[in-house]
Amino acid sequence: MSDNYSIETKCIQSGWKPKKGESRILPIYQSTTFKYDNSDEMGRLFDLEDEGYFYSRLQNPTNDMVAAKIADLEGGVAAILTSSGQAANYYAIFNICEAGDHIVVSNSVYGGTYNLYGTTLKKQGIDCTFVDPDASYEELCKAFKPNTKAVFAETISNPALVVLDIEKFAKLAHEHGVPLIVDNTFATPINCRPFEWGADIVTHSTTKYMDGHAMAIGGCIVDSGNFDWMAHKDKFPGLTTPDESYHGIVYAEKFGKKAYITKATAQLMRDLGSIPSPMNAFLLNVGLETLHLRVPRHCENATKVAEFLNAHEKVAWVNYAGLKENKYHELAKKYMPNGTCGVISFGLKGGRDVAIPFMDHLKLAAIVTHVADARTCVLNPASHTHRQMTDEQLKEAGIAPDLIRFSVGIENAEDIIADLKQALETV
Ligand SMILES: Cc1ncc(COP(=O)(O)O)c(C=O)c1O
Repeated sequence: MSDNYSIETKCIQSGWKPKKGESRILPIYQSTTFKYDNSDEMGRLFDLEDEGYFYSRLQNPTNDMVAAKIADLEGGVAAILTSSGQAANYYAIFNICEAGDHIVVSNSVYGGTYNLYGTTLKKQGIDCTFVDPDASYEELCKAFKPNTKAVFAETISNPALVVLDIEKFAKLAHEHGVPLIVDNTFATPINCRPFEWGADIVTHSTTKYMDGHAMAIGGCIVDSGNFDWMAHKDKFPGLTTPDESYHGIVYAEKFGKKAYITKATAQLMRDLGSIPSPMNAFLLNVGLETLHLRVPRHCENATKVAEFLNAHEKVAWVNYAGLKENKYHELAKKYMPNGTCGVISFGLKGGRDVAIPFMDHLKLAAIVTHVADARTCVLNPASHTHRQMTDEQLKEAGIAPDLIRFSVGIENAEDIIADLKQALETV
């Protein structure tokens, strides 16, 4: 898919490649439908005999160009955009699981994903065992069952900031004959490319750093093409036996390394339709063009902020893998030598009672239900994003009730620190 460019060049150049006389900028195909000259041409598209566009619920050229760019950034063979990160994580599992199946999931994943897998998928008959990602290999093996179909974890978890030992998890998944799916939202392919460490499928909430400006909700699934579905034929009948809703096509036979994404497009998008609007895909592409400039700046600012907080007398603890004394510092150095992300978590002496008035006194950092964009923002997950979780579940997921999630933006670091300083003086 790619020329042999560096990741910086791919951010700008991958995806849309205009031919003579075509728009230099990615065009927005704001159209539900696409025209053909005769009925046979259209019929061949429906049979998956020809490639092409017929209806934007399944595929749209603007979306596909952006998906191709993300596939290129991750080093994958194919990708699909979804209308949200939630949809991406839902499709990533539902594409290979059905009622009666089981998945193994890191217990530190984002609260929305925790609910999706732990509650909603269960209602659809897909069972889930949550595991501690830091547990020993032997302990993790105990979570597997004969009907386990996938392992899922986040590269850097939101908001506990657990750094995943990707190689350990890849070995775990592969020894049990299933793919490792990694949500790479926080690290982005600028800081970590999970396929290089053995992950098979990567998902993103593009809503975060990829968009980068808090403009458009979106998601993406990328396939490395490395997992051999046919070698585990019995486990993945959806890919390895005829799809009667597509005239008996066997995805893994007909589409090889692109089988997984083709099935997600042809079957899940057709039936569930969580496609982003082409306008949102266009906005995402604008964000992607500067991803390689923004992510290092987020990391640089976050390191300065973490060091400031770490030295402050009113701060009880700071969690940022960029700090030398952090539990995940060594893993972060291995998998993300250039930096982790711009998100920090910390607690104040006095706990949750102090956290709330402190946050209310911040002026530059805004309280928003968002994370990982250009503007500095702050949240107390126990009171906001994770408020559906019980104290027990919060503890299991490594989210202390006093945890303040601080998403460091790309403003001047000294201004962010000055804002923290003045708010700390008030508590
Ligand atoms: C790591 C991670 N994955 C998935 C999601 C869900 O993404 P979205 O909000 O785009 O649906 C989020 C949202 O915060 C997230 O942080």
